[in-house]
Amino acid sequence: MSKADFVVVANRLPVDRAGDSDEWRRSPGGLVTALEPVMRKAEGAWVGWPGQPDVQLDPFDFEGTHLVPVMLTADDVENYYEGFANDTIWPLYHDVIAAPRYRRVWWDSYVKVNRRFAEAAAGAAAENAIVWVQDYQLQLVPKMLRDARPDLTIGYFHHIPFPAYGLYSQLPWRKQVLEGLLGADVIGFQRVADAGNFARAVRRQLRYETKASGISVPTADGTTRTALAKAFPISIDAESYIELAQRPDIQARAVEIRESLGNPKTILLGVDRLDYTKGIRHRIKAFQELLEDGRLSVDDATLVQVASPSRERVATYMKLRDEIELAVGRVNGDYDTMGHTAVRYLHQAYPREEMVALFLAADVMLVTALRDGMNLVAKEYVAARVDNRGALVLSEFAGAADELGSAILINPHDIDGLKDAIMRAVEMPPAEQGRRMRALRRRVREHDVEDWSRDFLDALAVFHERGAAVTA
Ligand code: G6P
Repeated sequence: MSKADFVVVANRLPVDRAGDSDEWRRSPGGLVTALEPVMRKAEGAWVGWPGQPDVQLDPFDFEGTHLVPVMLTADDVENYYEGFANDTIWPLYHDVIAAPRYRRVWWDSYVKVNRRFAEAAAGAAAENAIVWVQDYQLQLVPKMLRDARPDLTIGYFHHIPFPAYGLYSQLPWRKQVLEGLLGADVIGFQRVADAGNFARAVRRQLRYETKASGISVPTADGTTRTALAKAFPISIDAESYIELAQRPDIQARAVEIRESLGNPKTILLGVDRLDYTKGIRHRIKAFQELLEDGRLSVDDATLVQVASPSRERVATYMKLRDEIELAVGRVNGDYDTMGHTAVRYLHQAYPREEMVALFLAADVMLVTALRDGMNLVAKEYVAARVDNRGALVLSEFAGAADELGSAILINPHDIDGLKDAIMRAVEMPPAEQGRRMRALRRRVREHDVEDWSRDFLDALAVFHERGAAVTA
C-alpha cells in the first residue's frame, strides 16, 4: 500500500452505511465536503472510526480518498467515546452546562484509543507528510504522532470551545492534554477567545512562554520549537446551499411545508443535534411565555424544532430528551388548537435538500446555544436565504456571533431579552431583513469552508517548508 503525503485523522470516517446496507456513502458533514477536493488532489488518506463497535475493516478507497478504518470495541465506545470524549471533555469544554464526570477508566481508554489512531496515522503517512488531526476526541494524537514520527508536519483543529482557565483546571489530566495538543505545529481554534484560553492554560500549567500566537515548546534535545495557536473560524460550503436554495423543486417544497403547517404568518425554526449545549429549553420557554403573554398566538405563529438524535446512550442526553419532550408536550397541550400546533417537534435527521426547504420556509431562525464552538446552522440559514429575507436570532455564546454581527444577538439565559429579540425578529420590516441578510450573506460567501481549510493549510505549509529546509 502506498503512503499518503496528506492524512486527515478524525474520530469518524467521512463515510457511513445507510441502514443495514453494505454500501458506503459520503457523510453529509461540512468538514467532509470541505476536504474532499484537497483529499482528491493530494491523493490523501483519512483515518477514522467507521461508527459501529467491533467492526474490523481493511483500508479501502472511496471516491479518491484512501480510508483507514480504526476499530473500536464496545468497551472503547463506552469508555473513550461516550465516556471521556462526550461525558468529560464535551461538558467541561462547554462551560460545565452539564457536570463533567472524571473517571480514571475513561481516561485510560482515551489514552489507549488515541494511541491506536496515532499508530494508524503514522502507518498511513509518507515521509515528511502533512497530518491534520481533528477535534476533541483526539487531543493526545499530535504528541503521540510527533514522538513516533518527527518528520511529519502536524496540524490540529479544535471544533468546539476551549474553556476559560478556571474551568479547564478542573481536568485531572490537564497537563497531559495540553502536552498532547502542543505536539502539533499549528493548533487551530474557532474563536480568538478559545486560542487565548488555551495559551493561558499553557502558561499557567506548563509555564511555557507565549508571544502573540506563538508558543515556545521545549523539545527532547533541549532546544525549543514554536507552535502556532490561533483562530481559524470554520465555515460552510456556501455555494452548495445557494444552489439548492435556487432549485425550483426545493422552493416548491418550502411552500408545501408552510401549507402543511396551516400557512401561519410566522414560522420560527430551530435546528440542532439534541444536545444540552444548544439552549433548546430556553427557546421553548421563551416561545411558551410569548404565547402566554398573548404577544404571539398559535393561530399565526408555529415553532418548528428539528432535534436530530445524538449520543443516545449517554445519560445526560437521555435526560435532556425527556425534559425537552415534556416541555414540548406541555406547550402543545396548553396552546394547540384542532388546526394549529404551537411546536412541531421532529426528533429526526433530514437530508440537506429538506433542510434548505425548511430554511426557506422559516421567517425566523433561532440559534440560542448556551455555548457552541461555531454553529454552522446559523451560516447555513443565511446562505440559503437567496431571497434576502428572514431574520436570524443568534446567541453571543456561539462562535458564529464573532462573524455574524448583523444578526439579532442574544444572551439565551436572559429569557426576557430573548423574548424581546424574538418579537423584534417576528416584526422586522422587510427592508431591515434585507439589509441585515445581505450583510450576513456577504460574510458567509466571502469566508466559506474552502477558505477555512486553505487558511489553515497555508499556516501549516510554513512549518512544512521549514522542516524541508532543515532536512535538506
Ligand atoms: C460536534 C463535534 C464533532 C462531532 C459532531 C457529532 O460537531 O465537534 O466532532 O462529530 O458533534 O457528534 P458525534 O458524537 O455523533 O460524532
